[in-house]
Amino acid sequence: KEKFRRDYTPTNYFVEQVNLLFQVFEDCTKVSSSLKVKRRDGAPENAPFQLDGEGLTLQSLSIDGETLPPSRYSWVEEDLLEISGPLPSSFVLQSLVTTKPEENTQLSGLYKSSSIYCTQCEAEGFRRITLMQDRPDIMATYEVRIEADKESCPVLLSNGNMTENGDLENGRHFATYNDPFPKPSYLFAMVAGDLGFIRDTFVTRSEKVVALNMYSEHNNVKKLYHAMDSLKKAMRWDEETFGLEYDLDIFNVVAVNDFNMGAMENKSLNIFNTSCVLASPETATDADYERIQGIIAHEYFHNWTGNRVTCRDWFQLTLKEGLTVFRDQQFSMDMTSAAVKRIEDVNVVRSMQFPEDNGPMAHPIRPESYIAMDNFYTVTVYRKGAEVIRMYHTLLGKEGFRKGMDLYFQRHDGSAVTCDDFRRAMADANGVDLTQFERWYLQAGTPVVRCEAKYDVEAKRLSLLLKQSCRTPQGGDALPFHMPIRVGFLAQDGSELLPERVLELKEASQEFVIENVNSKPVLSLLRGFSAPIKLEYERDDEELAFLMAHDKDSFNRWEAGQLMFSRTIHANAKAMQAGQAMQLNAKLVDAVRRTLLDTSLDKSLQAYALTLPNLQNLAESMEIVDPDALVDAYKFTKKEIARSLRDHLLKTYEANLLPEDSFRNDAEAIGMRRLKNVCLGYLAALGDKEVLDVCLKQALTANCMTDLVAAASCLAANPGEQSDKALEHFYQQHAKDDNLVFCKWIAIQAAACTDQALEIVDKLFKHPSFTIKNPNICRSLFISFAGNMKHFHRADGSGHRWLTDRILELDKLNPQTAAKILTKLAGYKRFDAPRQASMKAQLERVRNTEGVSKDTMEIAIRALA
Ligand code: ARG
Ligand code: ZN
Repeated sequence: KEKFRRDYTPTNYFVEQVNLLFQVFEDCTKVSSSLKVKRRDGAPENAPFQLDGEGLTLQSLSIDGETLPPSRYSWVEEDLLEISGPLPSSFVLQSLVTTKPEENTQLSGLYKSSSIYCTQCEAEGFRRITLMQDRPDIMATYEVRIEADKESCPVLLSNGNMTENGDLENGRHFATYNDPFPKPSYLFAMVAGDLGFIRDTFVTRSEKVVALNMYSEHNNVKKLYHAMDSLKKAMRWDEETFGLEYDLDIFNVVAVNDFNMGAMENKSLNIFNTSCVLASPETATDADYERIQGIIAHEYFHNWTGNRVTCRDWFQLTLKEGLTVFRDQQFSMDMTSAAVKRIEDVNVVRSMQFPEDNGPMAHPIRPESYIAMDNFYTVTVYRKGAEVIRMYHTLLGKEGFRKGMDLYFQRHDGSAVTCDDFRRAMADANGVDLTQFERWYLQAGTPVVRCEAKYDVEAKRLSLLLKQSCRTPQGGDALPFHMPIRVGFLAQDGSELLPERVLELKEASQEFVIENVNSKPVLSLLRGFSAPIKLEYERDDEELAFLMAHDKDSFNRWEAGQLMFSRTIHANAKAMQAGQAMQLNAKLVDAVRRTLLDTSLDKSLQAYALTLPNLQNLAESMEIVDPDALVDAYKFTKKEIARSLRDHLLKTYEANLLPEDSFRNDAEAIGMRRLKNVCLGYLAALGDKEVLDVCLKQALTANCMTDLVAAASCLAANPGEQSDKALEHFYQQHAKDDNLVFCKWIAIQAAACTDQALEIVDKLFKHPSFTIKNPNICRSLFISFAGNMKHFHRADGSGHRWLTDRILELDKLNPQTAAKILTKLAGYKRFDAPRQASMKAQLERVRNTEGVSKDTMEIAIRALA
């Protein structure tokens, strides 16, 4: 059943207090609930009371102590129980249900991951635990008692503070928790299991001592320290940046192996996918360390943006996610390098969100309808949502943004609100009109902005004509957006001719005139990617090289290089298609050489400047995606650069080797590894024995996962003796006994562009340690393969068929994850006719399969619509 944003109505009754008793047994868990319910003022006395419940075995139901006769209630929909009126204006509803967490393979509701009982309630999992008004505008206080076997479940956790604990008969024990902050049901959590932990404390700026605990399986406890360190940094940063302080005496984080997403911000009891919290140099890459720091911060920041102020309904998801992603991005920019972080984030928007916005799954950051809400935890809601928040920040300035945030909390703390409420707070706090800005929430599609510049020498006048256009998914033209375009003006010597400005583009076509410009400037447009758009502006390679060398905006310096790379690769793809010889642009080689030899650069930035745009990104600007031509052009370009610069690449590689006997992960060491491994990537494209031996040596002697992954990836793309040795070593020494490392080992091979790719993924699928029940393992095989452009998109359709077979298998166990993977087939319209036909055929096959989950069905239907 499809739900629509326009249909929002408040409920007639609301739950204001929830009391839960969990009795955990080996094969079944009993959940007794007691809901304190009130009728809303003005609601009719005979209004029925509706409760969500999914897959529950209902044992008993009573109101104010009296058992409710079956005639008083019925399931009006599969997941909706209705109790007929009239009902008192305030009453207590009690229910007892039983569930089997050990059989819950969907990982939504109460389930067992390894030996740990845990919950995942967002978006609609609470209804799989007990009957409840399972919607975010119902905010209640919770009291929870957990009873379980003391030996197998020594640790019992729920939201808020522990108020009591003790022993029971038969080797059992209990703990009770009280969470004083009213919250929606999606923020509920409970955990029971045999967990190890580390403890720390944080003193808030008002000198409250907060106990910090992080839990995992015993053998992983030593990998929790990085997360703990990140948490303390995040707590301090939010106080300093937004004046936001933690509000309880305790903050817990629990790591579980089986988790559909990255992590979950349950009030004071965050639950994490192990892949987003565990780190040690032997098992996690530098990128993992940074990702973990960001996600720990993200979930912590939700305490204010999400929990204290929550969403009125799920259409408002970006209210908390866009905002919280923006906050974690800002945090990471402050903790690591602002320019590097920005480059990484823009890469995600371009290579993942732009294609989504340009395909059948396109939706505004605030969607208008959904069938399965879990399908709308998308890069659009999260990442484009964060870019939209960033635009408020750019338009209003840092102080203006802070004023808006302060007003938002002042007005809405403790309530469930909408994206419009947020926008209004930003507007009111700054006395500006943000009416037009709502279009970012209403219209899908990526705007294209064309820029034409004219310089009048006599009048010393610069005029910039900006034209915006945007195709909506329905094929119409979107109304013009309100967007900030940050522009820099460079003089011929590379200095800033004029101070940088932010142009506020609001019209479809708008001219900006700047007087007293003494010479013709080189324009640096859309600095820092100030709006989530595609910019069109004509310039030659000379000008790009100039910007690469001189732009003071490090993002645009990188951007100029990316443009140069993509021009050459696209030209070569065209040549390939036309049966002509591919070529290497000499200006590009010069620019790469200059970057490679410039030792004054920050090494991380230098590494990114040397990195080719990724294939998803390049495909996005091809009219019809031709995977064979694109991948061959990409490989050719990389190889030819490597051939031209082989000695320089080798020298830079060697100059950035760190001593093997002492591992460091400070910014300098990370930059060195990044740079060295980019050089290795180029060299590996040459594929000769000498360079492959260098790769093998690195794989066998690496003192950290970053170097092992880098070398193994290079080799996986060059099958042969060295590759076999490296992958075998990787498996035996590292992957065999560590689930997360095993995932990396799989992902590297599934992503490798070799003629054996499909056979390799099938072999991995049949590997004895492969289990379809673990989402991390599934993702590392299926998503990595879907990114293997040439081989996933083989023209004979074998890649598409193979993945669809797996999706249908997975759907029976875990619809949420199956549906996510199916989105990889949705972009068929961008491909040539045979590939389109093959992808569509597989989507149709899914649609016509009986018993497919609503999650997966929704993707198939939307993709084919
Ligand atoms: N709120 C979580 C986060 O972004 C994501 C949980 C989404 N869960 C889901 N089943 N869709 O931090
Ligand atoms: Zn989030």
